[in-house]
Amino acid sequence: MKQLLIKKGKPLKGEIYVSGSKNSALPILAATLLSNKNCYLRNIPNLVDIQSMLKLLESLGVSVSKKKSKIILNALKLNSYRADYNLVRKMRASILVLGPLLARFGKAKVSLPGGCAIGNRPIDLHLFGMKKLGAKISIENGYVIATAPKGLIANRIEMPSKSVGASENIILATVLAKGKSTITNASKEPEIEDLCNCLNSMGAKIKGVGTSRLEVQGVESLGTTNYSIIPDRIEAGTFLISALITRGKLKINNIIPNHLTSPINILKKMGAKCTVRKKYIIVNGKNSLLKPAHIKTGPYPEFPTDLQAQFMSLLATVNGNSSIQENVFKNRFMHVSELNRLGAIINVKKNKSIIRGVDKLIGAPIMANDLRASVSLVLAGLVSEGETKISRIYHLDRGYEKIENKLNNCGAKIKRIG
Ligand code: UD1
Repeated sequence: MKQLLIKKGKPLKGEIYVSGSKNSALPILAATLLSNKNCYLRNIPNLVDIQSMLKLLESLGVSVSKKKSKIILNALKLNSYRADYNLVRKMRASILVLGPLLARFGKAKVSLPGGCAIGNRPIDLHLFGMKKLGAKISIENGYVIATAPKGLIANRIEMPSKSVGASENIILATVLAKGKSTITNASKEPEIEDLCNCLNSMGAKIKGVGTSRLEVQGVESLGTTNYSIIPDRIEAGTFLISALITRGKLKINNIIPNHLTSPINILKKMGAKCTVRKKYIIVNGKNSLLKPAHIKTGPYPEFPTDLQAQFMSLLATVNGNSSIQENVFKNRFMHVSELNRLGAIINVKKNKSIIRGVDKLIGAPIMANDLRASVSLVLAGLVSEGETKISRIYHLDRGYEKIENKLNNCGAKIKRIG
């Protein structure tokens, strides 16, 4: 089993580049199922989750090739509407093939994704949307069986609550549905905007992009695209914290600062020095005396749940009492006990954690248990006295491209062992 061995290093210093967004790339890869033409995608990060999605698409008959930095996908020879358990269980976002398969075949058989470390993650909202578009749904032998023999029919869909994945699946299903669909209370994360922009570049007719009210005029077919995925705002936010937690200074390149408004505002309120420009941010934690913060996660444009764990590591090192209320995945606090093993003082009551800042963290063997939790442990390891050994790092490789190389280039001391 691979592990990360982190030695306390100097404050980070230098420049770092953000990769393409994993959470944009996954639905956009699923979108290529909707076209019979070559789709050229750029800025796709090289991650285990992306490999899992590509394997799933190949299992459905999509041809996948690479030319320089582009991935080329072609679904002309799509020949299966069955997403197998062995592929789906590796990554929950596999459920995003449901909408496109229904749209293409009028039927789909997609394994239920199963449980996950951050709690029960139902897919009822995905299924609600498919039913609204005329699909009949049953669950058999662990699979969602969806059929729409006459094809999907456009409808008005009011989302009962916000869901990023369900919004994406429904958008994917409506672009080829007959008639005009209206989706209200849709999520409006930048990754959804990116999906809509990509679909429109393929010939879809989606209006209201970037808002929670989308109008989708169904079209007969989609064509080719040459599309570049947006930078990963969560990776960017993670690097902001890496500079601050080590009290270093980093220039973070390939970034869309507007996508990080809420986290940047919190950092500024804490006293962090951030110089925000169009495509980069310089964050300077040198000599900063940071103040505690009180954070509540929520759907975009509120504070992202995917940066909650990283902020918690930082707050654990900031004098005074801070708090984080998790409103998206109410049990997403598995990193707390591991951070406490490093000497942090964090207490959780229901969906709220109280963080009492300590003067120093001390290295220990700890265990990663989900993607964002893993990276919060890496961040804490950077400033923990002595050595921190993190096991189960496969979670990290699902979502962070070459993270140890990127951080080591700025002065971190991280080694992959085992
Ligand atoms: C996506 C992101 C994930 C991020 C999350 C919230 C991807 C691949 N993953 O996950 O990194 O943390 O958005 O920003 O993009 N829910 C239901 N029923 C459903 C679907 C969701 O009750 O059918 C609930 C969930 O349990 C959760 C909340 O809705 O409490 C939000 O989940 P959702 O926005 O769907 O997250 P994902 O799309 O799974």
